[in-house]
Amino acid sequence: MNSGLEGVIAAETVLSHTDGSRGVVLVRGHTVQELISRHGYDGSVALLWEGFAGDGLTRAGILEAFGDGRQLAFQRLGGWLEAAAQRPLIEGVRMCLAAVPDESTPSQIAAAMPVGIAALIRSRRGQSPVAPDPSLGTAADFLRMLHGAPADEPIAGALDTYFTAVMDNGLNASTFTARVVASTRASIASAVVGGYCTFTGPLHGGAPGPTLDMLDEAAASGDIDAWLERKLAGGGRLMGFGHRVFRVRDPRADALRESLQHLGPSVGRLAFAADFERRALAALSRHKPGRSLQTNLEINAALLLDAVGLERDAFMPVFAIGRSAGWIAHALEQQKTGRMIRPLANYIGPQPPG
Ligand code: ACO
Repeated sequence: MNSGLEGVIAAETVLSHTDGSRGVVLVRGHTVQELISRHGYDGSVALLWEGFAGDGLTRAGILEAFGDGRQLAFQRLGGWLEAAAQRPLIEGVRMCLAAVPDESTPSQIAAAMPVGIAALIRSRRGQSPVAPDPSLGTAADFLRMLHGAPADEPIAGALDTYFTAVMDNGLNASTFTARVVASTRASIASAVVGGYCTFTGPLHGGAPGPTLDMLDEAAASGDIDAWLERKLAGGGRLMGFGHRVFRVRDPRADALRESLQHLGPSVGRLAFAADFERRALAALSRHKPGRSLQTNLEINAALLLDAVGLERDAFMPVFAIGRSAGWIAHALEQQKTGRMIRPLANYIGPQPPG
């Protein structure tokens, strides 16, 4: 029984591909490194959605719709916000997404996340929401709506790099969920709610916060090697290592590291993280020989999210802002196939008597 569906092909896609043995993430034929250096997040989303986000929509049209989408999402803040701000952020974001009308366009659905998350975080601090500036890109505008002042260029650039790096990577668990929801002809907004719910777990999108907790714990122990031994001997998992598809180092880890190097204050932490990573890889190969557990993107992701001024419980929701573009693209592509996803289970329960 293949309970994790390893190696099972469940869709055909022109959108993205993760080559786990060569360490490549491709989006519409572009490497993730090329997307970061040449297109940025909004440009990459437009490239990803082109031809799916409504008939005849050009890349320029998609880009223009982002700003309008944020303005509409801001006008719709209200009903859900007060109750959602009383709940943990992970739930508040679910309430924000649940309030997105079914008939929303892809840009309107995607815009609900940066606008809603910034408003939720501010509301928890007793601050009122800040209106979007449609002339800015998603990352810069999110930080502006969050902090109430424009972000410095390197900070906004780092978040833009992060969003681009995590936008889409094949049939990961949350993207698969989004496709299953869309395959029933449910709305794209519903597919995004499904994707988000799958994303929240610590083995998937919820990983960056616990990854930073782990780094802090290892640093506080004063002896990284002894800490690693205790953790692995006790059957624990090291956050930031291992991946269902990658058998080599995740290329996005290095793209994020490069961006982090431009942010002065994170340099000391980067050196600690690099030392931790070296020791952790050695410990993993001793404890799990033959498993090829390599570095995924989470350590550098956690350092980056921290360096751009986010609180730990915001890491997963902010990760979800970047990934929502992938959920939407895959949901649109799945709807075009017209085929409902409905696998079988091997029934091993009791039979009726007689
Ligand atoms: N630390 C220690 N051992 C590990 C780790 C890890 N990070 N990852 C896998 N293993 C071990 C498992 O315990 C298992 O060992 P066993 O066969 O002796 O029981 C073996 O390696 C294979 O593990 P699987 O669970 O089959 O691997 P899977 O493909 O399901 O795991 C996953 C992928 C969930 C990402 C896993 O590597 C993990 O838990 N990593 C830590 C959490 C993390 O960093 N998540 C972010 C992933 S990236 C993303 O989704 C955004």
